[in-house]
Order: sequence, then C-alpha cells, then structure tokens
Amino acid sequence: MGSSQDGIDRIDGTDWKDEYSMLTKADMTATILANAEVAPEHYLMKLAVSGAFRDAQPGQFVMLRPVGRGFPFLGRPLGIYSLAENGSGARIEILYRAAGRGTKVISTLCEGDRIEILGPLGNRFELKPGMKTAVLVAGGIGIAPLVFLAERLSAKATPEGPKMILYIGARDSANLLGIDRMKSFGAEVRVSTDDGSAGYEGPVTDLFREDLLSFNASKTEVFVCGPNPMLKRMGAIIADHPIRCQVLMEERMACGMGACLGCTIEVRTPTGVEYRQVCTDGPVFDLREIIWR
Ligand SMILES: Cc1cc2nc3c(=O)[nH]c(=O)nc-3n(C[C@H](O)[C@H](O)[C@H](O)COP(=O)(O)OP(=O)(O)OC[C@H]3O[C@@H](n4cnc5c(N)ncnc54)[C@H](O)[C@@H]3O)c2cc1C
Ligand code: FES
Repeated sequence: MGSSQDGIDRIDGTDWKDEYSMLTKADMTATILANAEVAPEHYLMKLAVSGAFRDAQPGQFVMLRPVGRGFPFLGRPLGIYSLAENGSGARIEILYRAAGRGTKVISTLCEGDRIEILGPLGNRFELKPGMKTAVLVAGGIGIAPLVFLAERLSAKATPEGPKMILYIGARDSANLLGIDRMKSFGAEVRVSTDDGSAGYEGPVTDLFREDLLSFNASKTEVFVCGPNPMLKRMGAIIADHPIRCQVLMEERMACGMGACLGCTIEVRTPTGVEYRQVCTDGPVFDLREIIWR
C-alpha cells in the first residue's frame, strides 16, 4: 500500500512509537459528548479528543476502553466515522455495532464520561491522483470508515472527479446506516438487503458485479469494508479484472500497536507468503494480497 515499514505514512519520517511515547495522559483520554442508539444495536458516539487526532486519515482507527470499569480489560478497535477540528483539539465520531461484551459496555457510557483512547492508529486508504471514480462497497457496519473516506473525497473533488458510487448492503433496512451522509457528500447510492426490505434482495456484491465491466479500471479505485465472507466474495469477483481494490480488515485485536501479534494475517507477496499485523501494517490492504483461511 505504499506505506512505511511500520505501516503508517509519516510525512516527517518520525516513527509512530516515538510519537506515542510523547503523548500525555490527556491525549489518551477523551470526553464523551454523546453516545446515542441510532438503530437497533447501533450507536453513534461523539468524542472530544486531543489535537493528536487532527491529522487522522480515512482508514485509521482508535482503540477505546472505558475508564474505571473492570471490563473490557483491552481496548476495542473502532474506525473513525468523521473528524472535525475543535479549537486546539478535535471532535471525532464513531459509528459502531454493539457486537459483543466489550462494545455493549461502551454503549452504556453517557455524555460527560471519560474513555481511554489510543490513536489514530494504522495506515490509511491510499488516494491515487487521477482517480475519476471511487467505488465504495460496504457490508453492514463496514460503512463506518467509508463515510470518513467519502467526506475527504468530496472535499478534494473537482468537476473532473472523483465521482463516488456507494454499494451498501445489510441484513435489512433497519441496518442500513450512513446513507444520508453519503448522499450529502454527493455519492450515488445502490442498496441491497438480505431480506429485500430495501433495494435489491441479495448480497451487495451482486450489485457490484453487475456494474464491474462498466468501470474504467485504470481510473477507478474500489474501497471495501464489511464481514469476511463478503470480502472474500469481492476478492473472487475482481480476481480476473485489473481494477484496484483496497480493503479495510476488521481483525480482532488486543494491543492495537504491533506488540501482541494477535491480529496477524497472511498475505501473498512476489516472494511468497508473508505475515502482516493488521494494526500496524494495515488495517488497509490490497484485497488481492489477502490469503483467506
Ligand atoms: C480496524 C478496525 C476498525 C473497526 N471499525 C469498526 C467500526 O467502525 N464500527 C464497528 O461497529 N466495528 C468496528 N470494528 C469491529 C469491532 O472492533 C468489533 O466489533 C469489536 O471489537 C467486538 O468487540 P466486543 O467485545 O463487543 O465483541 P466480542 O464479544 O469480542 O465478539 C462479539 C462478536 O463479534 C465478533 N468480533 C469480535 N471482534 C471482531 C472484529 N474485530 N471484527 C469483526 N467481528 C468481530 C466475534 O467473533 C463475535 O461474534 C473494527 C475492527 C477493526 C479491527
Ligand atoms: S493487535 Fe497486537 S499486534 Fe496487532
């Protein structure tokens, strides 16, 4: 993905570990401004964070852990949904699904509560100059990091592009999130649901496959995030097509900083199979590189 050895493109060449060793405790806690249920089991959290987040880029994530609770002991990785400057600090939004015990505890936090935050972590989506069409493919809560990407793409857009097309799929209409924001950034939206309650009935990858041949591969970039079966299917669909496709991998994580090796995946390289840490080499990878197990 053209990232540095540690997976994070640092313009000034500093190492991210040096950077974190300089962070204060205030940089590593955030104040919750809101944490509201926006759909069944889905929450939108707004956080006031330190100035360390002002340069966060689409694709990067944070590790969140409630302060003063016995559980979860480890932070949970969550993508950045939006970012805005706020005085000398910043405000970020996180859109998340209360998937299990850790995120359920996070969902009980209230306005004014403090939360431990580590970030921004990981690499980023690569935005190629000359890209005329950006195709975003989201499965379920995989929409969250793609909204931040769309916001940045729309801010950089010129009359020549990039034009944005979003393919979004979910179990049912109640689980389709982020569409209004995507439209406000100028994205054309194609919807699918498993139960047919909105849009095409079936997997979102069917919609993408139908249109694939209409894209000019040299001027189109595909960005995808969603559950692994969907990502695997995307990999199969583009296998014989030259289109570029970046994937944000939502692997389970413990440290988020390259220390525990808990998020290791296998990738295909010109010299064979190699291991990568999703937290520091990713979470964004070339979809063709991923070896699915
Ligand atoms: C870089 C990155 C960005 C992410 N961004 C978001 C986001 O913006 N919004 C969001 O809702 N979620 C996001 N996730 C997924 C989120 O981290 C998990 O849902 C969360 O860690 C689950 O923790 P838990 O304790 O609630 O669930 P657990 O009790 O640990 O598990 C509950 C269920 O979720 C599954 N699960 C656990 N961890 C993951 C994971 N990392 N990915 C997928 N399934 C998992 C388990 O297999 C189990 O079925 C992201 C993950 C990564 C790595
Ligand atoms: S989560 Fe510890 S190495 Fe990636």
